[in-house]
Parts: sequence; structure tokens; C-alpha cells
Amino acid sequence: MEQRSKQPITYRFPAGFWWGSATSATQIEGAANEGGKGKNIWDHWYEKEPHRFFNGVGPSTTSDFYHRYKEDIALMKEIGHNSFRFSISWSRLIPDGVGEVNPEAVRFYNAVIDELLASGIEPFVNLYHFDMPLAMQNIGGWESREVVDAYTRYASICFDLFGDRVKKWFTHNEPIVPVEGGYLYDFHYPNIVDFRRAVQVAYHTMIAHAKAVAAFRRAAIPDGKIGIILNLTPSYPRSQHPADVKAAHIADLLFNRSFLDPAVKGEYPQDLIELLDEHGFLPVTEAGDRELIKENTIDLLGINYYQPRRVKAKENMPNPDAPFLPERFFDYYAMPGRKMNPYRGWEIYEKGIYDILINIKEKYGNIECFISENGMGVEGEERFRDESGMIHDDYRIEFIQEHLKWVHRAIEEGANVKGYHIWTFMDNWSWTNAYKNRYGLVAVDLENGLKRTIKKSGYWFKSLAENNGF
Ligand code: BG6
Repeated sequence: MEQRSKQPITYRFPAGFWWGSATSATQIEGAANEGGKGKNIWDHWYEKEPHRFFNGVGPSTTSDFYHRYKEDIALMKEIGHNSFRFSISWSRLIPDGVGEVNPEAVRFYNAVIDELLASGIEPFVNLYHFDMPLAMQNIGGWESREVVDAYTRYASICFDLFGDRVKKWFTHNEPIVPVEGGYLYDFHYPNIVDFRRAVQVAYHTMIAHAKAVAAFRRAAIPDGKIGIILNLTPSYPRSQHPADVKAAHIADLLFNRSFLDPAVKGEYPQDLIELLDEHGFLPVTEAGDRELIKENTIDLLGINYYQPRRVKAKENMPNPDAPFLPERFFDYYAMPGRKMNPYRGWEIYEKGIYDILINIKEKYGNIECFISENGMGVEGEERFRDESGMIHDDYRIEFIQEHLKWVHRAIEEGANVKGYHIWTFMDNWSWTNAYKNRYGLVAVDLENGLKRTIKKSGYWFKSLAENNGF
């Protein structure tokens, strides 16, 4: 048994609580052109438009987990992880998305899984974190049913290769984000702004999800569970005026329930279908889709929570010639007095995590869930480094504590919460923001050969995990 600190524990979590962190392949692996990996949309977009990335830093090196996974897993163990989420890079495993499996990728992921297990850390594996193989994007990405089928095959191959050791599986991370980034707001490739195509992409993502769940059931992995990871942004209206409440309801339908309901309940909300129909945006479907979604609900829900969404009724009619965006239905609302993260410009509202968990308990059958991401991004964090090299991130410790108090309260009220994963283990490359905002429990020094140094929050996390509370 690990040693326990003598401090009294006010917030103790249920036995076996999962303490760990989340990452994604493109953000940590690096080695983008090594080990037989094929190109994904990030490699391609960076080649085309490097100026779109913060400080011009692209995905080729990132934190170099591909070469340093042993050192990193040792650090995870040192800071108390009993579980860790990473994603498999589809374009590393199957370079062109559909063809031969790359043996070097199989060796790499096997080595990571084995190293985690040998260190007493349970691997949680996600199949898709924003990283479409370029060959698949070139035939339409999530707009194409062919890509849905290629993804299903890729998922089955993963279950067969790694399912003997990996028991927690996830089909997608934050599936709304590639819709927003790639098809509405221009912060992911293919940089399209088109509501109709966005709806189709969102729909096919969930068809792919349901097909992967069906493949998982066929694979019959003993003790295996499958889920999805959703960034749930509770939608708060400015006031109880019906127009504000309606605005918040629509934002909730579009950004949360368009994934949450089919994944957990096996059906789309009727009012979402009516809303899309009314505006002529229903997606193209195929016979059998409804049954597919109905029959393939999840076992386990991952919840990412960073900030709430505050909205109000629209005050001005939109220009009819402007692109149709979700903001046709609401305006954003900067609530006076709200607490902001001074280092990243996002609101901090800790109670939001409790509201999500209680909503899942009351309206989604109290499905087994965990906090799969929560974290505090800080721009310019190097300024908090002392002479010894340690970053004093007391603000992050406070951020985690304040959120955990609300998680604890939700559990006391009966929410079925099994763990807490922070975003993230070490500072990593974050898409177009590159290394702008740092989130790690471990610092990665870009000026010093990517040297890893545990932050103050990393040591605090260790005591949190060892005490199963704080
Ligand atoms: C999460 C994503 O929503 O936000 C991560 O799952 C991402 O992939 C993280 O890195 C932080 O984003 P940012 O823009 O603050 O670096």
C-alpha cells in the first residue's frame, strides 16, 4: 500500500476511484513522419498554412511521447496515476485509413499498453481525437459513408489487437469539436463554413460511433466497456424570460444533446429533429440508421468540462446573407461578475460540473460516468518557474480542488461517478494553439530539449491520488 499523508481528509472519494489524465496521439506522440505513419489532416494543414498555428509550431515533434513513453509512464506512476487515457492514431495504425496495418504502430501501442500495465496504470483508449487520416479526408472525411465504414474496420482491428489488455474503450473525443472547427468556425481542416455539411458530419460521426459500438459487442472483450467522451457545456440562460430560456435550450440541443442523447438514450431529441427540419437541415440518412443507434448505446460516459455556455435571446436579426451558424438562435452573454481564468480567457464556473453530473443522474439513467477532462490552461506559465526548475501552479491546484468539491457533492447525492482525469499529464501541443496554453501536471521545457519537470500541481495530484481525496 502507498504511504498516506497524515493530513485529515475532508473530501474522500469512493474506493477504486480512477485518478489520472487524458492526452491525444497528435498532441503528444510527435514522430509524425516516422514509424510508417501516414499523414493526417494536421500534418497536411500545417504544410499548407503554417502561419495558422501559434508561433508557427506544427504537429511533427509535439512532446515526443513516441520516443519517451517509458520515461513519461514512470512520471505518471510517480504522480499517482492509476489510469491514463491516450488515443490511437488511425493514420499511424493504418496509414491510408483502409489498407494494411502498420506493424511498427502495433509494436508501439503494444509497448505503451504493456508499460502502463506493468506500472499499475489502467489504459483507457480513445479511437479518434480530431485526427482524420488525410487519405480519408480526401474522399470526404465524415461527410462520407465510406469513411464511416473504414473507421468501423479500424475500430474492430483495434479491439482485436489490444482488447486482451485494454478494457476501457472510447469511440470519439468531443465529436462536436471537428464539426465546429472543420465545418462552422474555421479552426480545423478542411476549413469549411457550411451548416448543412456540419449537420451531416455530426450525424455520420454518431453513425460511426454506433457501428464501432456494435463491432465492440461482437468482439466480446471480457470485462470490456465502451463509451464516448463528450465535452458537455451546460447552457445557462441570461434570465428566466422565456426567450432566454429558449435560446439556452437550443444551444443545449445543438452542442450537447445532439451527441449525448443518441449515445446514451439511443435516439435524437424530437425537438432537435423538428428544429433542423424547420430550417431545412435534416441530414441524409439510410435505412436501418435509427435501429443502429437504438441498439448500440454506451456503457460508460466520459465528461469533459471546462466552462459553461451562457446565452441570451437574439437581440438583432441576423443578416440573411451571412452564413447560417448556430448563433442564428442565440447570442452569447458575458454574465457580469463571472469568474475568469486570467491566463486563458475562459470562464471558471465550478458548479457547472455538478450541474452536468446531476443532469446525467436524473435524465440519463444515472449511467456510469467519469470526468474525462477538466483543467486549467495558462499562457506564459514559464514565468512561474523557480530557480530549481519547478513551476508553482497554485492556481491549478485550487482549480482542481474547487471542481472536485462539486464532484464529491454530486457523488454524495447519488451520481454514478467513477473517476477524475485531468487535462493533462504534460504540457502538450494543442492544435492551432500549439504550445500557447499549458495544462500539464508536468512541464515540458521547449527551450531545453523537451525536458520534463513535475509541477507543484503534480506533487499535489500525487497526494490526492494516494489519499483518495484531499
Ligand atoms: C480540449 C481538447 O477540449 O481542450 C484538447 O480535448 C485541447 O485536445 C484542450 O488540447 C485545450 O485547448 P486549448 O485551446 O486551451 O489549448
